[in-house]
Amino acid sequence: MPIIFDERAKTLTIHTDGTTYQMQVDEIGNLLHLYYGRRTEGALTYLPSRFDRGTSASPYEKADDRSYSLDFLPQEFPVQGAGDMRSPLLVVRDAQGAFGCDLRYARHEIRSGKYGLQGLPAVYADSDADDAQTLSVVLSDDRLGLEVELLYGVLPHLDVICRAAIVRNTGEGRLTVEKVQSACLDFVHGDFDLISLAGRHGMERVPVRTPVSQLSYVVDSAKGSSSHQQNPFLLLADRDTTEVAGRCWAMELAYSGSFKGEVARDQYGQTRLQLGLSDELFSYPLEPGEQLVAPEVIMSYSTEGFGRLSQNLHRCVRERVCRGYWRDRVRPVLINSWEAFYFDFDGDRLVEFARLAKEVGIELLVVDDGWFANRHDDKRSLGDWRVNEEKLGGTLAQLIAAVNDVGLQFGIWMEPEMVSEDSDLYRAHPDWALAIPGKSPVLGRNQLVLDLSRPEVCDNVFAQICGVLDQGPVTYLKWDYNRLITDVYSHVASDQGKVLYDYILGLYSVLERVNERYPQLLIEGCAGGGGRFDAGMLYYTPQIWCSDNTDAVDRLTIQYGTSFGYPCSAVGAHVSACPNEMSGRMTSLGTRAAVADAGTFGYELDLKELSDETRAKIREQVTWHHRIAPLVQQGTYHRLTNPLTEPLCAWEQVAPDGSQAMVSAVVLETHGYGIPRFVVPRGLTPGARYQDVVRGDVFEADALMEMGIPLPLAMKAGEYRSYTYLLERV
Ligand code: GLA
Repeated sequence: MPIIFDERAKTLTIHTDGTTYQMQVDEIGNLLHLYYGRRTEGALTYLPSRFDRGTSASPYEKADDRSYSLDFLPQEFPVQGAGDMRSPLLVVRDAQGAFGCDLRYARHEIRSGKYGLQGLPAVYADSDADDAQTLSVVLSDDRLGLEVELLYGVLPHLDVICRAAIVRNTGEGRLTVEKVQSACLDFVHGDFDLISLAGRHGMERVPVRTPVSQLSYVVDSAKGSSSHQQNPFLLLADRDTTEVAGRCWAMELAYSGSFKGEVARDQYGQTRLQLGLSDELFSYPLEPGEQLVAPEVIMSYSTEGFGRLSQNLHRCVRERVCRGYWRDRVRPVLINSWEAFYFDFDGDRLVEFARLAKEVGIELLVVDDGWFANRHDDKRSLGDWRVNEEKLGGTLAQLIAAVNDVGLQFGIWMEPEMVSEDSDLYRAHPDWALAIPGKSPVLGRNQLVLDLSRPEVCDNVFAQICGVLDQGPVTYLKWDYNRLITDVYSHVASDQGKVLYDYILGLYSVLERVNERYPQLLIEGCAGGGGRFDAGMLYYTPQIWCSDNTDAVDRLTIQYGTSFGYPCSAVGAHVSACPNEMSGRMTSLGTRAAVADAGTFGYELDLKELSDETRAKIREQVTWHHRIAPLVQQGTYHRLTNPLTEPLCAWEQVAPDGSQAMVSAVVLETHGYGIPRFVVPRGLTPGARYQDVVRGDVFEADALMEMGIPLPLAMKAGEYRSYTYLLERV
């Protein structure tokens, strides 16, 4: 049984195959956190130390005991108002306007299966394979009429524990939640680094490693989306933890809106890591009987460095967050019209594009932006999702049929959450946009955000999506989102502090309805590239366009960082033209494909402009991708080098049974008479032999994992050479 209650010690213990998590109800009903680490048995109630800590305040019952203060005791759900002056998970105001609550243990329940969350994404369990269990612990503040249900879901074989919290008003007065986060981990000692994923548009999710100190470190977004700049992912590690050795903990939020993660060491050298909703532009009133669900945090722990931690998260996200028809399926190789044509196309050009794509083995054509209403540029028409028949030379149904006749599946781009001021939708319903009355709205890409906190707006968005998808066999939808939310004002909200959270609930409800109605539709998320790349979106869209930056060398860093929290099956990666449209950099077609091979593969260039020879190479690349795609989709991923600090970027996917492995490398530094570089694979079957199916060489696995493969040194080979080895166990 993964979850155990010890009546005598008052401990609740959660075991996974490799880890243990423990909490304790103490003598005055506070829920203390005791342990999250390597699997162990027994009660760890001795870990929190108690002695007089000077100015730290004590609860009323402990007036004579200065060794008891929540200001230093490790807790499961620290709140503002009970004496803990560190950052809380919950701040509540009562009907009189007073801040402060005091939550004590009320009851708990252990159930089989993994909990779900109403209206929000959550890890799910396979009832046959997972042996999942749920622990629900209810804490209450009787004065306020406030209950908080802490949910713990354990998937023991994945070494994953999930947490969420539900705040309920069980009293008679209005309560206002000013801050709520889902989970924290309190460590009674340790010298840690935080690794978070930071960046910008076109350079998302670059890992940043920062020593934890008494200065609090905040990783957040108040933009209404999880953002390009920070990702809802926190990794805490011992100072000496590496890719392959040492302790580390991860927290990943399954939520796509504003979030806040914090880490700080307290005055006594203890560390708190916490993650949940952002409290900026947030103030959520709860009337009697109402509740607020704090989204799920997925946690994992590894003693074998970052590599193992990421692998745990990859399995969890790939197999227990992503759902539906496409979860385990290899995705079609696609070609997207955006970087090929931008807005400049007509129906004939698209059909010709499809014909050339078919010749090289591509399976799906995606018509990106520009196919609807008066959308000749990015200034207008969002919200009017009716095809521009004049531009396409016919109906959407006819275009789909023409593309299908060529032998390709059809996919389409939409940006359903947005509206342009120059659109019929906006002219009919100006109050459907988030905008503050009397204030000129802040624009992003000339557009406004629809108020998805309103059910009637969600209904319209859903109906318009159906109106497009029902035109014919559309097998793929690129769901884009190209600005952030600045003017947080809904024309109907009872309280503006609810809008950003309710917006996300609205978004998820539309995505859920689309998934239900079109169960075989492949949806690729996108937000100006990777501006909303999170486990929340992955519950609805099994892949996300990783970045608008398709430069192969920049992509090495972006995909390296993304891999800390997310599997290859989620990463949209395409080969585009050179010089790259963003960086101007030249890389070979082979290197561009080797980098895109590590994701859901496709092309984003005008095939007509390429020579016959180049198109023939692309045909080979597509055939190659089909061969390796199952390995990329299902394989165990290893980061073999760090491209931020090393002259080589190398990575590897190993089949779950070890029978196959693909090792890829791109040389980042080029010198005359260069230094030999070696790439050292991991995860091969010890004692086995492997053959490189490309070159025929046979290697001993043990030697490979010790000394690696020397990369060929060639004069005048140029910059950014890539090498791929497909190893098969013989
Ligand atoms: C965003 C996306 C691009 C493309 C354009 C279309 O920038 O990230 O891939 O779809 O919108 O306008």
